[in-house]
Amino acid sequence: MAARDRFDRPLRSLRISVTDRCNLRCQYCMPEEEYVWLPRGDILTFEEIGVLVDAFTDAGADRVRLTGGEPLLRKDLPDLIRRLAQKPAIRDLALTTNGMLLADQAAGLREAGLHRLTVSLDTLRADRFRELTRFDGVTAVQHGLAAAREAGFTDLKIDTVVIRGVNDDELVDLLAYGRQAGAEVRFIEYMDVGGATRWSVRDVLSRAEMLRLIGDALGPVTAIEEESSAPADRFRLPDGQTFGIISSTTEPFCRSCDRSRLTADGLWYRCLYAREGTDLRGPLRAGMSRAEIGALIEDIWAARTDRGAEVRLATGDRRPFIPIETLQKEPHLEMHTRGG
Ligand code: GTP
Ligand code: 5AD
Ligand code: SF4
Repeated sequence: MAARDRFDRPLRSLRISVTDRCNLRCQYCMPEEEYVWLPRGDILTFEEIGVLVDAFTDAGADRVRLTGGEPLLRKDLPDLIRRLAQKPAIRDLALTTNGMLLADQAAGLREAGLHRLTVSLDTLRADRFRELTRFDGVTAVQHGLAAAREAGFTDLKIDTVVIRGVNDDELVDLLAYGRQAGAEVRFIEYMDVGGATRWSVRDVLSRAEMLRLIGDALGPVTAIEEESSAPADRFRLPDGQTFGIISSTTEPFCRSCDRSRLTADGLWYRCLYAREGTDLRGPLRAGMSRAEIGALIEDIWAARTDRGAEVRLATGDRRPFIPIETLQKEPHLEMHTRGG
């Protein structure tokens, strides 16, 4: 039985950041010149992640998503995937990547037992990709997606953060690309999370606007009715193609949020917007058992009241969530530390 929080939300989905490092510098996530990295000695080993995951599954978690930074930068990642894939309590094992290193690694990830893969891709134009991420990479990401499909990933997704005046003219092209690449595209509203230091409400293209743009170009869009705790609402185009929209900024899904996050150094956050996390590395390294950590997790989850995105929505005069000086002192507040 999954632990339930104060709003009766079960603990189900655990997102594990396996590294805070990234090989891109996306404008909406890592726009600064300098970053403070987590000390290497603090990074959890695969064995430690394994024990914590057991404690989480004891408390009810049954879905795990590996994130970063960029998870494919973590050395020997397939070893971790193999370890997790062997745990029967995990019904769904997924990974979110920027795709830069995917062409070489897709087959190894599949072989290790990864179930699902989501690739971030915000533009199909080489010049724009460079402006948005500071690196050249569209071709690498596209090769990565092709390799993933070839390796047998059938449930591929493409995550696109939509920013007004930056890539809002590419929604239709991205849908066409997704169809050809065999991936479901999800458009994500630009969020004022930690790290998004250049965020402004004017840059947010709302779900309603996205639907209008897509509908005008491709014909009537139908909402797909489904019961789910997933952040994406799904839609169908007249030709049958489906896509998703994640409207965390204008229509948050906190009410049904069953997810929490573990950073690469073992801090546990119950909300993307939470300021405080719980250190699980300390107790683990001090010798606390799986059962004791599981009980700790259940107790803390039972007291959970987080609904960060709804609180942000209710804030008038919305600005970037965390000022840059605070982020530099407390890297755990960064989206790239917490996992996208
Ligand atoms: P599945 O539902 O398992 O496919 O995964 P997902 O949609 O959670 O996966 P993904 O990592 O692709 O998340 C997509 C995007 O949703 C993220 O990049 C965020 O923009 C947003 N998101 C993910 N988790 C949270 C969360 O905890 N809170 C909020 N408000 N937004 C989130
Ligand atoms: N707004 C929305 N999504 C974001 N991500 C990172 N920063 C933001 C932001 N400010 C998410 C994107 C990206 C993933 C790695 O993290 O979905 O694809
Ligand atoms: Fe869940 Fe917090 Fe995200 Fe809301 S903002 S969906 S409560 S993690």
